[in-house]
Amino acid sequence: MATVSKLFDEGEIAGRVDALAREIRSAFPDEFVVVVVLKGAFVFAADLVRALGRLGAKPRVDFWSLASYGAATESSGRVRTRSEPPADVAGRAVLLVEDVLDSGHTIAFARQQLLERGARTVSVCVLVDKPARRRSPVAADLVGFTVGDRFVVGYGIDCAEDYRYLPYLAALD
Ligand code: IMP
Ligand code: MG
Repeated sequence: MATVSKLFDEGEIAGRVDALAREIRSAFPDEFVVVVVLKGAFVFAADLVRALGRLGAKPRVDFWSLASYGAATESSGRVRTRSEPPADVAGRAVLLVEDVLDSGHTIAFARQQLLERGARTVSVCVLVDKPARRRSPVAADLVGFTVGDRFVVGYGIDCAEDYRYLPYLAALD
């Protein structure tokens, strides 16, 4: 049986989300597009866009379903799109919101695709960064939490579709 150990509780997450929203608010124009990478970023993005709204930002919100893991816990290195890329990014500032930055393959792929579709800029906001595991040379512009080589679940993030419902972030050991 896997052991679930709490890493960051609800209060800590809320504090980081508010701090990220303030950073985004000062760096972005009033209107920009948030592109939420599904499924893992759905809870994070729901909190983040409301924090942005409280600060007076007016982002559009779109979704993009990407997968590189399947049911495994290692990136396959091949990113699959499970939905059409977001429409209406041409000429706009895009904030890509992702759950975990691990090997970097997903973000490298998504950023390239959005730029090819004419996005003016693509910035990356991730809830969890795992820099030790990077295989593709990408960095996030905004990071909620940095962790070592742990498998993270909860707050929308799954392991084989389980644990998304946890209100906190945990490590699976
Ligand atoms: P990448 O290796 O940076 O391309 O990350 C690919 C995807 O793997 C991310 O979007 C996450 O959904 C998933 N992933 C990477 N690390 C973890 C983890 O620790 N827990 C759950 N999902 C992860
Ligand atoms: Mg993901």
